[in-house]
Amino acid sequence: MHHQPDSSRYAHMKYRRCGKSGLFLPRLSLGLWHNFGDIDSQENARSLILRAFDLGITHFDLANNYGPPPGSAESNFGRILRENLAGHRDDLIVSTKAGYFMYDGPYGDWGSRKYLLASLDQSLRRLQLDYVDIFYHHRPDPNTPLEETMTALDHLVRQGKALYVGISNYKPEETRQAAAILRRLGTPCLIHQPKYNMFERTIESGLTSALADEGIGCIVFSPLAQGQLTDRYLHEIPKDSRATRQQFLKTDAVEKNLPRIRALHALAEKRGQPLADMALAWVLRLPEITSALIGVSSTAQLETNVKVLDRLDFSPQELAEIDRILAS
Ligand SMILES: NC(=O)c1ccc[n+]([C@@H]2O[C@H](COP(=O)([O-])OP(=O)(O)OC[C@H]3O[C@@H](n4cnc5c(N)ncnc54)[C@H](OP(=O)(O)O)[C@@H]3O)[C@@H](O)[C@H]2O)c1
Repeated sequence: MHHQPDSSRYAHMKYRRCGKSGLFLPRLSLGLWHNFGDIDSQENARSLILRAFDLGITHFDLANNYGPPPGSAESNFGRILRENLAGHRDDLIVSTKAGYFMYDGPYGDWGSRKYLLASLDQSLRRLQLDYVDIFYHHRPDPNTPLEETMTALDHLVRQGKALYVGISNYKPEETRQAAAILRRLGTPCLIHQPKYNMFERTIESGLTSALADEGIGCIVFSPLAQGQLTDRYLHEIPKDSRATRQQFLKTDAVEKNLPRIRALHALAEKRGQPLADMALAWVLRLPEITSALIGVSSTAQLETNVKVLDRLDFSPQELAEIDRILAS
């Protein structure tokens, strides 16, 4: 059934230019790593996409392997677009990636031209789209020449299968080298996708300055540390939470972080916003960050998270207090 989008959706959201490109991204983007596979409720997945779109979230991030099973998040997202958002392709920024293990044999992993070209064709078939807006190399490959991987990205843009290209999980020096090759090929690197949150600050030592120098935008993943930087785990490990599944987020890691989570929660309360919003505002405070790439399992979480836009500023004292808590 066609969804009638909220006509005020663009007023809800703020948008920022991605690096030195002409492309604007929403300050919050939605990732489909969890909650959009065949194992998940399809009605919930549909509600999340449509609610996000109505809140002005124009950017949806996928990868070939998101599911489970791998590939099913792309198929499910493609179906929801066709069933509910037909006619809105030009209002959406859809990204996907290849670089982690996807299929058996020597051609379904890492960074060869063979893998990247085949994988994007497979993604487009699952998504039932003619092109993606952004195609990423998902992680650096130490055993494939960077020239080969970057030339494959450039080729996909020239074929019209991707409008822009990006890289993910590349270190600062690898990023500068990739950017130089892409610039020479005539397909600038649009965006980098690293992990960044209060518990994982590696990008502050070198990556953000490389991105500023190169004019590359930055969309940070797991800004809520997979849900730890929210009220989700304050009192218990809920049965329906990511930590309960013990796969990507372990309960012992959550328990170890709990004293800091509680102290951050108290500070967020003083600021008058939920911890989730303080954690998102904190990643968005850096001028290099274009967008925070969140995951959600309910529309209530989505609605809480977009409220970050009401309170993005920090006093120097608050920032110092956050540093003190994180060091404790
Ligand atoms: N490039 C890469 O290598 C890479 C790696 C990882 C992720 N990513 C991308 O980044 C996206 C986001 O990653 P992520 O899911 O780890 O991000 P995240 O935003 O740090 O964590 C999302 C989880 O936090 C919880 N949550 C979110 N909002 C909440 C709220 N207001 N209150 C309570 N709990 C809340 C939910 O957990 P529950 O499910 O427990 O409710 C949700 O599933 C992915 O979907 C993917 O697109 C990329």
